[in-house]
Amino acid sequence: MSTLESIYTTLPDTPDTTRTVAQADFDARHWSSPVAGPLKPGTVEHKRAVADMFRETFNPYKPSVIAWPKLDPETLKRVTSLPIWDIAVQTEGKARLRMAAYAAMIDDPDMKDALSRNAWEENRHKEVLTKLVEAYGIPMAPEPPYKVPTDTEWAYMVTGFSECVDSFFAFGLFALAQRSGFFPSELIETFEPVMQEECRHILLFANWLAWHRTTMPLWRRPWFEMRVWAVWVFLAYERIGLATSMDADGNEQKQDNNFTLSGANDVSGIDIAFGELMDLCIQENDRRFSGYDQRLLRPTTTPTIARTLRGIMRLVQPIQARFAGQPA
Ligand SMILES: [Fe+2]
Ligand SMILES: [Fe+2]
Repeated sequence: MSTLESIYTTLPDTPDTTRTVAQADFDARHWSSPVAGPLKPGTVEHKRAVADMFRETFNPYKPSVIAWPKLDPETLKRVTSLPIWDIAVQTEGKARLRMAAYAAMIDDPDMKDALSRNAWEENRHKEVLTKLVEAYGIPMAPEPPYKVPTDTEWAYMVTGFSECVDSFFAFGLFALAQRSGFFPSELIETFEPVMQEECRHILLFANWLAWHRTTMPLWRRPWFEMRVWAVWVFLAYERIGLATSMDADGNEQKQDNNFTLSGANDVSGIDIAFGELMDLCIQENDRRFSGYDQRLLRPTTTPTIARTLRGIMRLVQPIQARFAGQPA
């Protein structure tokens, strides 16, 4: 058995039957460390808190028992025609492999545990999506083989930062889909734990990043920071569409890599203004993180860019309105 396989098989799929579903859902969204004082990245207290948070907020739902709601023909068409299913399944498959590969490299038992669990949860997301695709008869392209990355840290960072960007927009789009009633509430509810799990994943990633920075030898830092910048450049390149036909592994992508940036109309039937969507994403991002210990770090780059953009738009709008002769 390979190291990667052993990570999956040794991680517990442990439904705790003493907890009710509602309690498990609440516990997945709220967590505070009992340790008093600051949780400074690089300290034992911080990394233990990160691992405890991830383990204790585990939601034990099982993809195999999800009862997929019956959809009327119009809604079924809406669901099956979303241009995301192939890329969603493949993204989860890649995330699972990359996280497990990176977890296998880490010596620290707390971080190893948290990242291995994250890989396991990505596999569960893939199972949820596979069940959905089967339930609604969505035609899928054959999955490409998942290759173990050669640069494990790079692949993990691409996946981690990518989740930070995609989750921020997905939180807003999900809320929009929920409010619009474009999809039945049972379907929305089924995906709610998956959404919250992505919030936990990027919470873990932000704290792993801070831990990794502070615990690596000082001489490695400049090279590491250059790689972080390179990941952002790669993601920007991918997001603005210059790399739409290729992914990080060089596989051809026929579906929408940018759905989380452009899918508002597809999930809600509403033409929402960009500024309003940004406000919703910011609001939802804050709400989803609000239940976790405030001493743990949050991802900051995407929310900061969104807040800055909104600030600029609010400054520019009255000027634009004056030039256009309209009331601001
Ligand atoms: Fe996932
Ligand atoms: Fe994730």
